Amino acid sequence: MEEMRFNQSNQTCYYGCRKCCLFPGMKSICILVVVFLLMLPNAGAYDPLDPTGNITIKWDIVSWTADGHVAAVTISNFQMYRSIMNPGWTLGWQWAKKEVIWSMVGVKLLSKETVPSSKEMYLTVAGVMSAWGQDPTGSVSAFQVSVGLAGTSNKTVKLPKNFNLLGPGLGYTCGPAKVVPSTVYLTPDRRRKTQALMTWNVTCTYSQYLASRNPSCCVSFSSFYNETITPCPTCACGCQNKNNCVMSDSKQAHRKGINTPRKDNAPLPQCTHHMCPIRVHWHVKLNYKDYWRVKIAITNFNYRMNYTQWTLVAQHPNLNSVTQVFSFDYKPLVPYESISECLKPISI
Ligand SMILES: *[C@@H]1O[C@H](CO)[C@@H](O)[C@H](O)[C@H]1NC(C)=O
Ligand SMILES: *[C@@H]1O[C@H](CO)[C@@H](O)[C@H](O)[C@H]1NC(C)=O
Ligand SMILES: *[C@@H]1O[C@H](CO)[C@@H](O)[C@H](O)[C@H]1NC(C)=O
Ligand SMILES: *[C@@H]1O[C@H](CO)[C@@H](O)[C@H](O)[C@H]1NC(C)=O
Ligand SMILES: *[C@@H]1O[C@H](CO)[C@@H](O)[C@H](O)[C@H]1NC(C)=O
Repeated sequence: MEEMRFNQSNQTCYYGCRKCCLFPGMKSICILVVVFLLMLPNAGAYDPLDPTGNITIKWDIVSWTADGHVAAVTISNFQMYRSIMNPGWTLGWQWAKKEVIWSMVGVKLLSKETVPSSKEMYLTVAGVMSAWGQDPTGSVSAFQVSVGLAGTSNKTVKLPKNFNLLGPGLGYTCGPAKVVPSTVYLTPDRRRKTQALMTWNVTCTYSQYLASRNPSCCVSFSSFYNETITPCPTCACGCQNKNNCVMSDSKQAHRKGINTPRKDNAPLPQCTHHMCPIRVHWHVKLNYKDYWRVKIAITNFNYRMNYTQWTLVAQHPNLNSVTQVFSFDYKPLVPYESISECLKPISI
């Protein structure tokens, strides 16, 4: 049971949920995000709840080899609440010449695909990354690659192009690789500083519209003062999966392997009228003069996902005066001065 108690600064505090989203998490750890969008216009390419959020790929050339270079690649998830969960990320790019990867260490590679005609390269890695706002230490993924048939000096090396990131599933767009000041490292004994021979960065940002046309969760509502439960709207998450859903009492629900998440992050929902992978139920338990209290129940209808750790982000005009949260770790999220009082994530 999870409860929040609010100061009663405004009697009419429930506005309803217009948009909810489910985002990835770390180490089979997941993040659930619900956005109560009240006064925000629907922003397209960036997330109004995390306007500077991004994933940065840093490519440090640490040595030149006979036919190319060895690079230390670091992927940092600078997002407040969106993590990369199972089965991990896929990074793709287009080589500038006919480069090849001779070896790769530091991550568990699930697949490596190359399309020689278009010089495209895709690495799928069983790498999970937490959101920086949730767990900074788990928000970085690093590996080393040895690249061959490439330039062997900073004058002849060519930057790869058209980076794309699946996290898992669609949602990220990546900018061009840019040469940035070379990373300065401490040597392993931490006594000396050394410097990468050349560094380039690529920044990827998330867009909910790219990820899915439909929300991935819905909110239902009830209160102590009225027996009527306002359910999730019918087809709240789109009904195009209606033929692929699983009846809760069917044999299919117990089939082996059904709980395995997919690379494209597609859900396998239980058949419900709302067809949402996640439902958040918001129950107003008390409404006193001084404070009100809600109980939040979150139900997972997605057979492909086990959530062991998640974050709920709720935007509500009263959340600036939360006085007590039971069973939760609670942390305010303040991306914008003007709407700061509406935005708070809750994470477990
Ligand atoms: C990426 O996020 C970090 C951390 O919030 C921020 O400092 C940096 O400016 C962002 N980069 C871009 C290109 O937005
Ligand atoms: C390049 O990426 C790293 C994160 O890996 C970041 O710390 C650094 O500030 C970035 N540099 C630029 C110039 O954006
Ligand atoms: C390229 O390497 C040379 C020699 O190591 C160095 O002096 C120069 O600053 C480097 N240029 C860039 C753009 O990193
Ligand atoms: C309870 O809610 C329903 C639906 O919103 C409404 O029609 C009804 O009048 C409410 N009843 C009371 C006692 O407030
Ligand atoms: C998810 O949980 C169920 C029930 O505990 C378990 O049978 C299944 O193996 C789990 N799946 C994954 C991918 O962890």
